[in-house]
Amino acid sequence: MAKKLFVKTYGCQMNVYDSTRMVDVMAPHGYEPGDSPDDADLIILNTCHIREKATEKVYSELGRLRALKDEAARQGRKMLIGVAGCVAQAEGEEIARRAPTVDLVFGPQTYHRLPELVVRALDRSLSGGAGVVDTDFPAEAKFDHLPEESRSQGAAAFLSVQEGCDKFCTFCVVPYTRGAEFSRPAADVLVEARRMVAGGTVEITLLGQNVNAYHGEAATGGGTWGLGRLVRALAEIDGLERIRYTTSHPRDVDDELIAAHRDVPELMPYLHLPVQSGSDRILAAMNRKHTAEAYRRIIDRLRDARPDLAFSSDFIVGFPGETDQDFVETLRLVREVGYAQAYSFKYSARPGTPAADMGDAVPETVKTERLTALQQLIGAQQIAFNAGATGSVQSVLFERRGNRAGQLIGRGPWMQSVHADAPDRMLGRIVPVRILDGHANSLSGAVVVVGETSTERTLPPAERAIA
Ligand code: 5AD
Ligand code: SF4
Repeated sequence: MAKKLFVKTYGCQMNVYDSTRMVDVMAPHGYEPGDSPDDADLIILNTCHIREKATEKVYSELGRLRALKDEAARQGRKMLIGVAGCVAQAEGEEIARRAPTVDLVFGPQTYHRLPELVVRALDRSLSGGAGVVDTDFPAEAKFDHLPEESRSQGAAAFLSVQEGCDKFCTFCVVPYTRGAEFSRPAADVLVEARRMVAGGTVEITLLGQNVNAYHGEAATGGGTWGLGRLVRALAEIDGLERIRYTTSHPRDVDDELIAAHRDVPELMPYLHLPVQSGSDRILAAMNRKHTAEAYRRIIDRLRDARPDLAFSSDFIVGFPGETDQDFVETLRLVREVGYAQAYSFKYSARPGTPAADMGDAVPETVKTERLTALQQLIGAQQIAFNAGATGSVQSVLFERRGNRAGQLIGRGPWMQSVHADAPDRMLGRIVPVRILDGHANSLSGAVVVVGETSTERTLPPAERAIA
């Protein structure tokens, strides 16, 4: 009888991708993905360590799972609990000590060895031993040991092309949990992309912690390819209609990538380009290796190449030593750039990172005030951006059913979530939709009836930045 595997994913899209690959790895061993932990034989929490809150969530979930595991044991069922991802990588043995209910702990670089770890964990749990911990950065390349995906990945899917980060921003744990920068060979990426498209995928988001640092072995002609070149090659795949990539670093936006935004229509006009702060003093303390002005110039060059490009970003408020003036600089940058949306966080000290040892902590109350002000500004820009879509016709890739019968939900080119009445046969297809209304977090519209003329309108610059 098939066993049930339940994976709960926290954090970034890299983790979402890794979770699908864990399911692929376990499929040949008789594990089917389930959607509830209750009757699972193996539960994996694929964790995030980026901020303290993310880590704490994992430990409280482990508390809940412990009760579930005890109940399963009373019914004579064996349930294994695994912790994967960046908390596993950073804390290793500590997890098994703090949460003895955990049977296996493995990092983002070792999940291709999951079947073997599960067998070892089953043995140990029968003999009453401690959990199995595997958080090496093994010499063998993980991607070479992963099976071909066994299932269709869906109409819009992720493809990991790059992992790790060498940037060492002083607040960030990623270089420690995900390790040094690594790019997959372009030929491997192309093979995986073709397979995904053959399985029905029409939109691929290329993933990497620092995706535009991509420098994989070239598929033709020797040397290496940058991300711009890779995007061009992917765009030639028949049936691949949309390409996105995330997350980028301003330092790695090169001419070739900007040119790809100009020349490749499949490359969607939306870019997540985190800046973190608008103050040069704070950017230097963060070791971002760019100024606010350099970031503005990059945005300008990208907009020159592709005028309808919309941006999102990440911001940290309350970094050690951040003054009111520094924060004002951040607000100024946000006003000048004008974002379609953005994420903002209070600085959270992460043990082992250089910023954790910097003095001059910003009081919690000040962090809260700054976060509120920044989120208000970003929220107003997002509302304006969405409102600006009203009346346009957008090509929408329908990905799932809505809550209301007969309604589908998809994404437009600018990543906005679009709701429209549409028949199920439009699922997985790109369909023209007239936008009737822009809301805070979504758009609503009506499918354009065949025969009605439509042209896709690009958003005028005035809609980029308001407030
Ligand atoms: N505190 C707060 N936010 C952080 N981020 C990364 N590390 C921290 C930290 N220590 C944010 C950054 C990054 C996003 C993924 O998470 O803005 O871009
Ligand atoms: Fe972290 Fe900076 Fe690397 Fe992004 S670029 S993953 S913030 S160290």
